[in-house]
Parts: sequence; structure tokens; C-alpha cells
Amino acid sequence: MPTNVTHSRILGTGHFVPSRVVTNDDLSQWMETTNEWIMERTGIEERRFAVPGVDTTSSMGTEAAKRAMEAAGIEAADVDLILFATLSPDYYFPGPGVQLQQNLGCRTIGAIDIRNQCSGFVYALSIADQYIRNGAAKYALVVGAELHSAGLDLSTRGRNVSVIFGDGAGAVVLGPTQESGRGILSTHLHSQGEHATELALLGPSTREWVPQILERNDPDDVSYFPYMNGNFVFKHAVVRFAEVIEEALQANGYQASDLKLMIPHQANLRISQYIQNKMGLRDDQVFNNIMRYGNTTAASIPIALSEAYAQGRIEPGDLLLFAAFGSGFTWASALMRW
Ligand code: COA
Repeated sequence: MPTNVTHSRILGTGHFVPSRVVTNDDLSQWMETTNEWIMERTGIEERRFAVPGVDTTSSMGTEAAKRAMEAAGIEAADVDLILFATLSPDYYFPGPGVQLQQNLGCRTIGAIDIRNQCSGFVYALSIADQYIRNGAAKYALVVGAELHSAGLDLSTRGRNVSVIFGDGAGAVVLGPTQESGRGILSTHLHSQGEHATELALLGPSTREWVPQILERNDPDDVSYFPYMNGNFVFKHAVVRFAEVIEEALQANGYQASDLKLMIPHQANLRISQYIQNKMGLRDDQVFNNIMRYGNTTAASIPIALSEAYAQGRIEPGDLLLFAAFGSGFTWASALMRW
């Protein structure tokens, strides 16, 4: 175990998206929508959908994790802890953390499944950070992966939700650093269960299991599709994003102008732009890729991070901020010196 650990640091990033590109025009073949409507309200041009029979949440997470491990220069045997964030696991249980452990050939280490939707990756990062800082783990694998496409209502009935979401996975390897001032500086987690059903998938659940849903035989039953009160979510998102970004900056004595890059959860381009304006950030200080991938929930920040890094947008010493908001409601941020 490391000694004199001061902080945890991201040592490598990786991402994987399915090969199947679904454009707005493709969606308009299945439901009454248009490229113009989707672009104007969300900024999304296309997203990836899993290839049936090929991609699963755990397989995409595994590929992203392999790429992050390669970038970090570590082997599966080096990993001490797995954190897997998703709202769309392969199975109701067990969660995909154990599948990742098996797929990668890790030791029989702990595998924690995180259930915090769009904030899941930042929640997972926060936990991994604690393990590394206190010396209980040296290397942690933090993964966010989602397979939304199989569970969306792709008819006109579900269009206000279905046009937003896409599939994919991102991962980071977190490890210790003794370099003063480098690594994760602080993380900030929040929740407000009062609004749990404003963005949710309610069934099947232990409240109403599959036989009861089938017995109802109701063609208008949408309980097994995601529900979103879009306007309500939007209004809360812009407030909470701003709050939690400010909280991270203030906790460390920084201002928005000090940021090299902010990577917001890719909820909706309009939300990102609203936050950017509110915080007075320049275009080069905010990374967005929702145009190409849609909202990939827990995967969106690590996919964006992996792309930003590959594009040379992040260098040692840069001040970086992650911020997320979503179902729960939950919201969270993490500030780090790269
Ligand atoms: N294509 C075309 N028309 C659509 C549509 C679609 N995909 N989805 C909804 N509409 C229609 C509605 O039926 C409605 O029509 P009506 O006025 O005849 O009733 C109209 O467009 C406006 O619908 P509304 O739901 O009020 O749209 P909106 O302006 O609120 O935009 C969202 C919808 C989802 C884009 C917006 O609410 C949003 O981005 N919310 C936040 C979502 C989010 O970020 N979620 C993830 C959080 S992690």
C-alpha cells in the first residue's frame, strides 16, 4: 500500500461506443419527430445504439476499462477495487461490477455497483477517491456504462424521452499520487428524493412485478418505459449544476475563470450552454460531445473525458471540473488538478 498518499489521480481514460450510428432522420422513421426539433431542443445530431446480440452494458464497460488500463499502464492483476455506475445493467441482479471482474480476469477484489443515474460516475469517483486516499486501495477502476436503446419507447408516444438517450461506456483508472496539489481536490454529492419519480423507470419492480404487468394487459401501460418530466428536469438541472460547480470552486478557493476545462454530464446541449453562460465560461473551457452520442447517463462524463484527453485538451497541471445532475434527483461535482 502507498505511503504519504495525499490525493488520488486519474492515471488513464478509455471509452467504447457501439458501431451502430442512429441519426435524427433514422428516429423520424420510427416516430413523429424531426431533425430540426431534436437539434433545436437538445443539440443532438446522432447517437449510438448497441448492436443487438453483440453489445451489452458489461461488454461495453469491459472494453472501456481495458482501454483505460492500457492508458494507465496497469494490468488486471493490479486493480484493487471496481466501481461500476449504470442504470441499465445486463441483469436485474447481480450488478455488472462482478461481470467486469470476470471479463477482465481481476483478482477476487471488491466490485461495487453504483445506482445514481446521471450522477453515477461522479458518485463512483468520489468513493474510489476515498479508498485510495486512505490507502485501502492502490488502483481503482471506475466505469460508467449504459445501454438505453433496448428499453426506450421508440414510438411517437415515447419521443420526448427516446430522442435524448444513447449507449456507450467510459472508464478511468484512479491511483495514488504524492505530488503536492495534483489529483482530485474535492468531490461533492447531493440528492433530493422528493423528485424521484420525475425522471424514472418505475416498472417492473418489486412494487409490481412482470406477471402483474402482463395480467393488466393494458396497451397504454408505459410503466416499463422511462418517464421524464422534461420541463421540470430542465429547470432543476440548471440550478443544481450551477450550485454544485460553485460549491467545488469555492471549497478550493478557485473561480470559474481558473478552469482549464469543465466536463458537464451531457444531459442536453441547451443545459450545458445555459450553465456556460451563467458561469461566464468561454467555449474552450467547456467540453461537449452530446451532438454525436446523445445523453449516455453514467457514461457521458468518462466518454467526454476520454475524448477530450485524446484531443489534447487536457495537460498536466490543468484544473478540471466534472459536474452532473439527473434522476433521483442527484447531482455532484469533482474538481481536480490533472
Ligand atoms: N419530436 C417532435 N415533437 C416533440 C418531441 C419530439 N421528439 N418530443 C416532444 N414533442 C412535442 C410535444 O408533444 C409537445 O407538443 P405539444 O406542444 O403539441 O403538446 C412539444 O413538442 C413541446 O414538448 P415539451 O415536452 O414541452 O418540450 P420541451 O420544450 O420541454 O423540450 C425536452 C423537451 C425533453 C428537450 C426538454 O424538456 C429537456 O431538455 N429537458 C431536460 C431533459 C434532460 O436533460 N434530461 C436528462 C437529465 S439527466
